[in-house]
Amino acid sequence: MSMPTTHLAHGAEAQRTTPPQRDFAHTGPGTPAGRFMRTFWQPVYVARELDPGRAVLVRVMGADFTLYRGESGSWHLLGPNCAHRGTQLSTGWVEGDCLRCFYHGWKYDAAGQCVEQPAEDASFARKVHVPSYPVQEYLGLVFAYLGEGEPPPLPRYPHVEGRNGVVDAGRGVLPYNFFNQVENSVDELHVFFVHRDSQFEAAGLTGLPALEAEETEYGLRVRDIMPTGSVRVVHLIMPTILYVQVYPHDQESGWRDFLLWRVPVDDHAFQTFFLLCANVTGEAAERYLAQADRYLNFTHDPRIAELGEAVLSGQLRIEDIQDRRRIVALQDYISQKGQGVIPDREHEHLGRSDVGVILLRRIWERELLALLEGRPLKQWRIPDTLTATSGV
Ligand code: FES
Ligand SMILES: [Fe+2]
Repeated sequence: MSMPTTHLAHGAEAQRTTPPQRDFAHTGPGTPAGRFMRTFWQPVYVARELDPGRAVLVRVMGADFTLYRGESGSWHLLGPNCAHRGTQLSTGWVEGDCLRCFYHGWKYDAAGQCVEQPAEDASFARKVHVPSYPVQEYLGLVFAYLGEGEPPPLPRYPHVEGRNGVVDAGRGVLPYNFFNQVENSVDELHVFFVHRDSQFEAAGLTGLPALEAEETEYGLRVRDIMPTGSVRVVHLIMPTILYVQVYPHDQESGWRDFLLWRVPVDDHAFQTFFLLCANVTGEAAERYLAQADRYLNFTHDPRIAELGEAVLSGQLRIEDIQDRRRIVALQDYISQKGQGVIPDREHEHLGRSDVGVILLRRIWERELLALLEGRPLKQWRIPDTLTATSGV
């Protein structure tokens, strides 16, 4: 599928004219947004996707890492390459909580210290190490801290931890900049326009709301005041986490709580990591779990990019797509990738319905400027009780 080169050229132009505190899109090592993102724990893997005793290469914010699980199941994260002659460490073998290099057998412990070199003098190993990073499993996701200094405590989500019901953890990969989707989180108007023919509308979410946005202790909250008087509440937990209610999968599961992290792979792609929570227990939970398509709009599915590119290139129209099961993901893909892989944010025309996007950018810009000037950043706090509402 061909790339929309006009968008890429546009993006390159934007990069030259955007002041550093407003460049949210570039997160490689040393960039302002990248340094900011690295002050937070970020999910890097779905726990059930890696067996104990296995290693894998992961790419996060333009840098590679070796994620591995010790034979006991514990998680470890090292730099990507062996300190000897640089081969990719993830191709080696896990031994206990250590990792042995594929090329000449140097062995590293979980702190990245070399502890064995089959063909060298015993005194050499202690002088050799590779970088290591804190990593923790929580709610089925694997979180890493890639920033400098002591990591902050891993943020907890008591309203997810303590719930009765089914929580699915999963991920997806999308080929455009993460901030397109972070902004989309607080662009609630899009739900009523781009998704006007989707499972949201079928579940009763219709009509144009009046929108309000306010900064909170955890990030920001957007409220949609519906024509009926009901209120839809959406939260953006800093820096990229959406907490929202999504449509019911079936009659029994009801509106589901959805928590979604966005983590750049590099500046042109990102991963979403999600927890999808359905309030079903007992036999209803069994029936819900038996339906593999319950998260089809949220999980990794190459069909979404394939169909999305076909629409963007004009080979298909969205109306031609008969299979409605992925329609929300496809509508989001087309609208967000259609902005460009890295959009030009300096030449938009924002209106009153963009209150969420405007506030999000104001917060990010303020924090990036503080970081650039060496001033303290806001300490975000997730309250024990946080409720998203459907608006129906
Ligand atoms: S490159 Fe790893 S042991 Fe030689
Ligand atoms: Fe959407």
